[in-house]
Amino acid sequence: MLNKEQYPKSFHELVDHFNKIGSTFNIRKEFENDKDGSRFKDFSLETKISDSVGTFLLDFSKNRINHETLQLLFNLAKASNVEQMRDKMFSGEKINFTEQRAVLHTALRNRDPNAVIKVDGENVVPLVRQVLQKMRVFTDKVRSGQWKGYTGKKITDVVNIGIGGSDLGPVMVTQALKNYANDAELRVHFVSNIDGTHMAETVKYLNAETTLFIIASKTFTTQETITNAHSARKWFLSKLVTNSDEKHAVGQHFVALSTNEVEVTKFGILKENMFEFWDWVGGRYSVWSAIGLSVALYVGMDHFEALLSGAFDMDNHFLHTPLEKNIPVILALLGVWYNNFYKFETQAILPYDQYLSRFAAYFQQGDMESNGKSVQRDGSRVQTSTGPIIWGEPGTNGQHAFYQLIHQGQKIIPCDFIASVESHNPLGQHHQILLSNFFAQTEALMKGKNPAEVKAELTKEGLSGERLESLLPHKVFDGNRPTNSIMMQKLTPHSLGALVALYEHKIFVQGIIWNINSFDQWGVELGKQLAKSILPELADKKPIQSHDSSTNGLINFYKSNSKL
Ligand code: F6P
Repeated sequence: MLNKEQYPKSFHELVDHFNKIGSTFNIRKEFENDKDGSRFKDFSLETKISDSVGTFLLDFSKNRINHETLQLLFNLAKASNVEQMRDKMFSGEKINFTEQRAVLHTALRNRDPNAVIKVDGENVVPLVRQVLQKMRVFTDKVRSGQWKGYTGKKITDVVNIGIGGSDLGPVMVTQALKNYANDAELRVHFVSNIDGTHMAETVKYLNAETTLFIIASKTFTTQETITNAHSARKWFLSKLVTNSDEKHAVGQHFVALSTNEVEVTKFGILKENMFEFWDWVGGRYSVWSAIGLSVALYVGMDHFEALLSGAFDMDNHFLHTPLEKNIPVILALLGVWYNNFYKFETQAILPYDQYLSRFAAYFQQGDMESNGKSVQRDGSRVQTSTGPIIWGEPGTNGQHAFYQLIHQGQKIIPCDFIASVESHNPLGQHHQILLSNFFAQTEALMKGKNPAEVKAELTKEGLSGERLESLLPHKVFDGNRPTNSIMMQKLTPHSLGALVALYEHKIFVQGIIWNINSFDQWGVELGKQLAKSILPELADKKPIQSHDSSTNGLINFYKSNSKL
């Protein structure tokens, strides 16, 4: 979104519209007046994404919107050139201009056999397909046992060492597709944190002879990952049976996923065991690239490619569907409505699916690293709010933890509820109970409970007089809390791919409307730089004075109490 004086007309119209309806709009009232049930029809989309993904239902009727709101939001999207920028992204233009890079995670999952996508004049599609083929050969070998550890044993455990986008995507997807894996044959583990505990606890019960380490790092310079990789190699070498050929053993047990061949080879990983990707793949969008190797090993290459196909189907929906029926666009615009007009600061993602237990964590990076920006494309400060704070946990667990605040707190938290019609694990009544909670929560958040309803309820329970009056305000729910509900048939590699791509495109649309660069992440650099300068200061017990008094105090406390 441009600075105030440059805002498009549609923005000013939205401001006027908000001033008219913002404080009085009540979703419950809208449903009470909705005698013919048209609100759901008007504000929901049942879209067949593809044969393999199936149909997605997006119900956005429980939002503080009417037809005019939606129309003005679509006008804003058009005036912000969402469609033009979308086409630029897909065609490989360098829209990540601060890093002078194309943004082409969509090329990684393009399944069109005739696709041509050029970066600096070179068609990248054949490069992508070569790496996919290399991943297929490798994963088939490891999964079948043809790839042997240095003592001739089959690999039983894979440890992915990476952080941020080189960790969160594989963690989220392997968890989500666990049903397609066979833990009895091959297990995956993830080490991301520089805290030695993460590595120590992960390798504690592993057998070096049957463990494969994947060093996943786009840059291959990330301090945490490289330190963890060295520790993994040290642990591995310490377990070698005597008289082993170290070089050969490391070659059989360490592979790399990176854009940086020089650093990979320096580490001692053979070039043929490096799976390449490119600078036009952003870290937080890299699960579709070689970074997905742990996923492919865990669930097999066919399922990994099905994930890519599902994402490609959503890409096509995003590319070819008019804005008015475009699921990512609608989700993005609703987010803009709450973020920039209502000034709600956070957004919860609540999958009613245990397999999606890391979905919100994944999109914390996806959204907050993309749209946590304060500067517009022309370098001037943004004058509106940008990326929301993303958080969430799977339902129903969250209901017994933080939903109290969503229902009765002073903050309004728009929520996305996600669920599948079918469960992979149809245990007794579990799935119906899960879904009854899913439906009930959005209804409760929208309706609330007014004083008359509370009074009737308390009277029925036999309460009256002072006791009733004193309890009443505590039991009132304001309601009018906005939610989106997304339903799909079943969580499969295809539908998961589509769901992830849906959120990626939502983030993209919002970034365009806010006129920011969603594809760089300079904000994470300062802390890294300071940590590097502090590290040598921790080498001895001598007190330091080189920082502010607080930082000095903390460092000196550590130094005086540690066993340095
Ligand atoms: O520090 C942030 C970041 O650069 C993320 O954007 C990225 O996903 C992560 O670090 C890991 O980077 P790499 O894959 O280069 O190790």
